[in-house]
Amino acid sequence: MRIVLLGAPGAGKGTQSQLLVKAHGVPQISTGDLLRDAVAKRTELGTRAKAAMDSGKLVDDATVLGMIRERLSKPDAVNGFILDGFPRNIAQAEALEKMLKELGTPLNSVVLMNLDLGILFRRLTGRRICEECGKVFNVFTSPPPSGKHRLMQRPDDKEEVIGKRLEVYEAQTKPLIKYYEAAGLLRVVDADADVDTVFKSIDRAVLKPAPVKQ
Ligand code: AP5
Repeated sequence: MRIVLLGAPGAGKGTQSQLLVKAHGVPQISTGDLLRDAVAKRTELGTRAKAAMDSGKLVDDATVLGMIRERLSKPDAVNGFILDGFPRNIAQAEALEKMLKELGTPLNSVVLMNLDLGILFRRLTGRRICEECGKVFNVFTSPPPSGKHRLMQRPDDKEEVIGKRLEVYEAQTKPLIKYYEAAGLLRVVDADADVDTVFKSIDRAVLKPAPVKQ
């Protein structure tokens, strides 16, 4: 399985990636997680990326592509992967296509997780993450059991940054829908349902054969 989960911030890409990892035994490759890890470790890359991330902008392509190239070359990615949050623009998609061509491992499908703006906003403002175990909760839809976790909010989940992230998605990431549609790889799922229902839709979508191109 070599897939991309495409969708706006808060569409549920991370949540569904975790379930796909369990079901299919391939790694989740999340550029957001890799970048947050670099920020937490205060590496040179993390220091460079932090300002863009905190303001809801994309980190520069060269940094992200370097990270992805390194991650895809690790042994656990040989049998497949779930790309979460990458690619984010046409230049990244073209670079990915080239990289995978060289490796002889093209994508099987790209799943677009569709969700209304109002729901995205609620999911992002409600998200809380346990600092100790990394578990993701939502104060509206999946509140944590009281007292068991040390909760934090991602700096880019503040209302003033969410608007910018959604703007960046519209301008830079949404064009990928047409790009992957033209390549015959796009599958669309309704992400406005409970986690298990969305998972079943994604699983069905990635197993579907590619539409025949005329
Ligand atoms: P990244 O970490 O990739 O963030 P994102 O794409 O904005 O996506 P999120 O992680 O916010 O949301 P998600 O879709 O994973 O939703 P989740 O499952 O957590 O990127 C962060 C930043 O890093 C970017 O802004 C950029 O600066 C940089 N970056 C990353 N990749 C880059 C790239 N390729 N190029 C350049 N820069 C890059 O769910 C959200 C909430 O909803 C949770 O609380 C969850 O519990 C809840 N939820 C999930 N599913 C459901 C459901 N079905 N029903 C109810 N609640 C649900």
